[in-house]
Amino acid sequence: MKIRTRFLLPTLAAASLAFTGCGRSDKPAAVASAPAAPAPTADGKRAIEITGDDTMKFNVTELRAKPGETLRITFKNIGRMPKQAMSHNWVLVKPMSDADLNAFGMKASTSAPDYLPADRSSVIAHTKLLGGGESDTIEFNAPAAAGAYPFLCTFPGHFAIMKGKLIVD
Ligand code: CO
Repeated sequence: MKIRTRFLLPTLAAASLAFTGCGRSDKPAAVASAPAAPAPTADGKRAIEITGDDTMKFNVTELRAKPGETLRITFKNIGRMPKQAMSHNWVLVKPMSDADLNAFGMKASTSAPDYLPADRSSVIAHTKLLGGGESDTIEFNAPAAAGAYPFLCTFPGHFAIMKGKLIVD
């Protein structure tokens, strides 16, 4: 028994050291991922800036939010082309299949002048339609349910490539 006790103690000490080591190695990863989340504004709402340009691209295609988090999204069309040729909006919709998103995009992009469908039951939030140099800021709460919420621009011809996802988790 004496021999066993002698061996057991150093083993416990080594195990405890190894555990501490594990805890330390987790820290750098957490710090490295922190800068990806924009800082909250003074009133606690998270401000996110999104741009759209003349090449029909959003500057971000993936956003992240916590369930119910209040987001303040400023969307700006940084393009220079005429409004009739190259306008953009930012429309967030409920999770749906690619086929349903395609159908939504078709319906919306043929609904002039604001390019939003009459039935907006699947629309969570949207900005105004913006010409070059224009911007719009909207505030809304991220959905309470975790999931991948598509966003898109519904100006005619844009939704197939001008889209992304808000990941709520
Ligand atoms: Co667009």
